[in-house]
Amino acid sequence: MTEVTRTSRLLDAVVALSADLSLPNVLKRVVEAAAAVSGAQYAALGVLGAGTSDMKRGLVEFITTGIDSKGIRAIGHVPQGIGVLGLLVTDPGPLRIADIGAHPASAGFPPHHPPMRSFLGVPIMVRDQVFGNLYLTEKQGAAEFSQSDEELVVALAGAAGVAIENARLHQRLEQLAVLGERERIARDLHDTVIQRLFATGMGLQSLVGRMEGSDLRERLQQAVDELDETIREIRITIFDLEARDAVKDGLRARVLALVGEATATLGFAPKVHMEGPLDAATDASTQEELLKTLREALSNVARHANASGVEVLLHAASGTITLRVADNGVGLAKDAQRGHGLDNMQARAESLGGVCDLSARRGGGTVVTWRVPASP
Ligand SMILES: Nc1ncnc2c1ncn2[C@@H]1O[C@H](COP(=O)(O)OP(=O)(O)O)[C@@H](O)[C@H]1O
Ligand SMILES: [Mg+2]
Repeated sequence: MTEVTRTSRLLDAVVALSADLSLPNVLKRVVEAAAAVSGAQYAALGVLGAGTSDMKRGLVEFITTGIDSKGIRAIGHVPQGIGVLGLLVTDPGPLRIADIGAHPASAGFPPHHPPMRSFLGVPIMVRDQVFGNLYLTEKQGAAEFSQSDEELVVALAGAAGVAIENARLHQRLEQLAVLGERERIARDLHDTVIQRLFATGMGLQSLVGRMEGSDLRERLQQAVDELDETIREIRITIFDLEARDAVKDGLRARVLALVGEATATLGFAPKVHMEGPLDAATDASTQEELLKTLREALSNVARHANASGVEVLLHAASGTITLRVADNGVGLAKDAQRGHGLDNMQARAESLGGVCDLSARRGGGTVVTWRVPASP
């Protein structure tokens, strides 16, 4: 394989890490790319459990290439972290060996293990923490792995480390959200992520004017626009996260507070019209469901509608509570896919014995109508 092909395989694997793939798929690609770029017959990647640096306490993932499932079953267990593999964890650094069996740390192979001589192993690390290891055996067409094989595999292991850390952070975020820390996350996103993106955007923007070539300037401007769009999306996410519940207020005040929050996200103030004995006609759970529905409807307007105006109407009359959110945006696309948002609005209405309907607004835009019986 030429140097150019090797580098492009490497890049492919790194790009795959930012694509929307599940962690096992990403790791599979890393292993395959590592085997391909280094010319190894076998490659494997083991991931240690979160917070462990001890292979004996278990690999949570073990991904191989070059050996089929029958071969894996014949060996009967994943590596135990003894022998040369243990070295990668206790003394993390690249390890290149011409003959594993002859190495002083070798613990021998279990029965039914295919014969392996040459070895190249690297720890998967992010900062000082070892997440696992990536190793290759049986270099094809040469007696042992080379220095340049080692460099490529070290780069791939770096990418794998980032992917694993990312997946773990993501899991932790999900748990935190479940534990009711949504507000804290929203605040962190606002105070750190948005501020940094904003500062970066400003820095780039100040360069645009000073650039020479118009081609470069255009690309830089595109990058600035993308940052702006990213900031907007994060703002919407924050709005979704901040399900702040100041129950001491009446429904009218809570609706106005929510609409106030949405104003920053939308870029314009919704018109609000409320009518009837709102508090008398709604109990606590109806109010909760109604506010969550309103939040989702406004979030959808910010996300999808590209509207310049939205009207929120809430009224209680003849035993029915009606919430209507009408925007003047692009309307529902023909191929729009229902997501959790619309399903949830409907489920919330149904749980209270009501209905939810989404329709085109006359003159353009979308109307969400959510109607439930007044609480007794
Ligand atoms: N106000 C709106 N204007 C235009 N399209 C909308 C509007 N609300 C919802 N949609 C469309 O309906 C789809 C499903 O919405 P939803 O179930 O909330 O999922 P999500 O917001 O996660 O995409 C959206 O992806 C979008 O295409
Ligand atoms: Mg939505």
